[in-house]
Amino acid sequence: MVIPGSWRDCQAWKADGIELSTTNNETAKLYDAALHQIMSLTNDPSLGGLPSTIQRMVETDPNFLMGQLFKEMSSIDVVTPGEETIQNLERLRVIAQSNRVASWEKLCFEAVEHQIYGRQLEASRIYERNSMLNPNEIFSISRLFVLNINTGYSEQMKNSLGYAVNAYSEKKPLYNYLLGRYGFALNECNKNSEGEKWARKGLDLNNGRDPWATHAVSHVLLDSSRSAEGIHFLRSTEADWRKGDMFLGHNAWHLGIFYVERGMYEEALELFNDTICIEACKNEAMLFLNDAASLLFRLKMEGLNVKEETIKICEVFKQHAFKHTSMFDDAHLLLTCGSDKEFCNQILDSVENFIQGNSGKYQQVVAREVGTHILKAIVEYENEEYDKVVELLLPVRYEIWMCGGSNAQRDIFHLILLSAASKSISYQDLARSLLVERTSNKQTLELNGRWLQRLSL
Ligand SMILES: [Fe+2]
Repeated sequence: MVIPGSWRDCQAWKADGIELSTTNNETAKLYDAALHQIMSLTNDPSLGGLPSTIQRMVETDPNFLMGQLFKEMSSIDVVTPGEETIQNLERLRVIAQSNRVASWEKLCFEAVEHQIYGRQLEASRIYERNSMLNPNEIFSISRLFVLNINTGYSEQMKNSLGYAVNAYSEKKPLYNYLLGRYGFALNECNKNSEGEKWARKGLDLNNGRDPWATHAVSHVLLDSSRSAEGIHFLRSTEADWRKGDMFLGHNAWHLGIFYVERGMYEEALELFNDTICIEACKNEAMLFLNDAASLLFRLKMEGLNVKEETIKICEVFKQHAFKHTSMFDDAHLLLTCGSDKEFCNQILDSVENFIQGNSGKYQQVVAREVGTHILKAIVEYENEEYDKVVELLLPVRYEIWMCGGSNAQRDIFHLILLSAASKSISYQDLARSLLVERTSNKQTLELNGRWLQRLSL
């Protein structure tokens, strides 16, 4: 492993206003390197990638709290920790209580603990407080950003990033990577032109190598119905965003969504087979599995037979079932496995158990408020019980944001409602109203046009 001299040692971190609890310069540099990989969404091969960087960071100073927190966060994908994680947390609590650990690191420990127990909103509040007190502290800002996406709190995402961008100096390391994220957050709050300005600035400052900024521009183009421009943008910058291996599957999904919008189904399927499916199966990252499921279901609603492709994703997805880490994930799982009735019933039963009592887990609230409606609606869509789909989704459509994800990702649930209404006997008028609503928002205009044709027949 080569650690370039440009990474910050303890003194350089201090000069940037961040006191680290490690006195080991190699550990300090590895912490910087880990943050760079997280923010650039790119595993650095010279460091052996992010997992190796974290492992080495922990080995060089086992008492460095932030190294240990990085390790815990990278291995957690459940909302109910196992025995090993609980023991790890106890060990880390002892480290966190040490006098040599700075207050911002202690707060990070508290936030990680909340997150591991599924208390996502509590974790968000601590990260927000930390980033307000320490604007140069990227771990909290990056974790808050992800939590805001996963909980659907787009206003908090916009405000916290706006604060960070203003408080952070342009000359500081990692500043550039905040801009694309801020652009995305603005766009999620329907500030498209402002979002585009910040996303493109982030892309420029990073010489085109910022997968998140590329992604933020894609969101702006999608939401302003500039799909031809979107395809050109993503195709012409492909060599850059494909290097961002931690986000490759999602940027490819955006290209696929542009193809669906334009009715270019063959291109969308080709992209699914040569990139999206491979990324989803290779990494088994929930984001990529969700994207794969979402793209296939959109193609299915456009009338394509994607059974073969869906089975491939379903088999991988099933290995992550019954965790209920996120209702968004569970819903996408059912998008691929909806034809397996027995499995769907097991998932629905498991979610019913999950929502019993009051565990303090945010996803329990999400499941009660909106998650179970969406899951049941997906199952009923597969059963071709379209009236039931409408009756399940219509009452919760303004709460779908709680499931997390972006507006573009959550659109799948609104499309399912529209599709079900159009196929139902009782809700033809509703289908037309939903379509008028979509068109007035000036989003997915080409896809809306096709729906209009279908409804007129
Ligand atoms: Fe996206």
